Amino acid sequence: MTEVASPDVISVLIVDDLPENLLALKALLLDEPLRVIAAASGEEALSLLLEHEFALALLDVQMPGMSGFELAELIRGSSRTRHLPIVFVSAADREAAYTFRGYEHGAVDFLYKPLDAHAVKSKVRVFTELHAKSRELRRQLVELEAARIAQERLLAELQHTQGELQHALKLRDEFMSMVTHELRTPLGVMALEVIMRQQRLAKGDLAWFSPERLQAMIDKDGRQVRSMTRLIEDMLDISRLQHGMLSIRRRRTDLAELARRVVADFEGQYQQVPLTLLALPGVVGDWDDSRIAQVLVNLLSNALRYGAGRPVQVEVDLSDDGLARLTVTDQGPGIPLEDQQRIFQQFERLPSSGKAPGMGLGLYISQQFVQAHGGGISLHSEPGKGASFEVLLPLMPA
Ligand SMILES: Nc1ncnc2c1ncn2[C@@H]1O[C@H](COP(=O)(O)OP(=O)(O)O)[C@@H](O)[C@H]1O
Ligand SMILES: [Mg+2]
Repeated sequence: MTEVASPDVISVLIVDDLPENLLALKALLLDEPLRVIAAASGEEALSLLLEHEFALALLDVQMPGMSGFELAELIRGSSRTRHLPIVFVSAADREAAYTFRGYEHGAVDFLYKPLDAHAVKSKVRVFTELHAKSRELRRQLVELEAARIAQERLLAELQHTQGELQHALKLRDEFMSMVTHELRTPLGVMALEVIMRQQRLAKGDLAWFSPERLQAMIDKDGRQVRSMTRLIEDMLDISRLQHGMLSIRRRRTDLAELARRVVADFEGQYQQVPLTLLALPGVVGDWDDSRIAQVLVNLLSNALRYGAGRPVQVEVDLSDDGLARLTVTDQGPGIPLEDQQRIFQQFERLPSSGKAPGMGLGLYISQQFVQAHGGGISLHSEPGKGASFEVLLPLMPA
């Protein structure tokens, strides 16, 4: 049994067939900060070499069976031990011949018998220090490599963040130019109207302000103001969502009642499109009614805006799983499968929406609102066969 050396201890292998020689060498190296492991034959030495990492091997040249040179040849032959420094210990009288063969085998050095304590110690020191240094170097290399990998990862993260930042900046710019455009159009119209009315007034043309005209003016102004208010509220919601500041104020809400209210509002504005509501009574839950109403407003205005003027249906009922379900179905051109996910993202609009006003925020905001209630929106649509948006809401917070 050999004990397991701690990784920092430096081991030296000594090989000699005579136990007294091994003892003498061990004694010489006793004071050194080394672990000396002895083998009595080449075979034993080879098996020790498999188990341990050595800084140096001291090999007796003359041994029965495998000689020191034969052992050295085997050591050089194995990739694991090829670079192990070897010091041959030889009888001084055969010096010349052994030196020659030793160098042939790639030996590093020689010690001569009888062993001189000082010579042995200083040679062993040279090699063990070398070993310690190269071990330290290897350790530093490993550390360096780890540092390099960490740096590379950091760089990749940095590049990723930079990409995201640039994307965010681009979004912001697009957002700003869209907002500007969306606000400027109705504002421009209103500004013109104001100038016109001022001119009429300045001319004293009061007859122009007939009751019918006044009514139409007020209706039109109301629509423009509502659409601008809507836009600004959407922007505020987006900003709240981005900062995780969306607050949900739950209170007991009857979904059928809520839908009736929203649908009635729309009927006033869109008399030209048939709008039906099928509502199961008693679908009551704890929701933020203003957010859910806004979801329905968004889905309904899409159905009316993109539904080709064909009938639109709103349904309120319960799903098989006992969730509240709100469905808005139109008979418009529908939405191709490949776009069905995309349109729920910010600013995503289909080319078919053309010049229709809008910034592509309605579905995004609606989905966020519904998700904040623990629910979800799904879309079922086949091109040419209309679209059906289904909102599922748990009755109670989880
Ligand atoms: N019912 C629908 N039928 C067809 N297309 C729709 C419908 N609802 C939404 N869309 C498409 O999804 C896009 C994103 O909708 P939305 O997020 O509400 O933004 P906006 O209405 O401002 O464009 C719309 O521009 C339109 O292209
Ligand atoms: Mg919309």
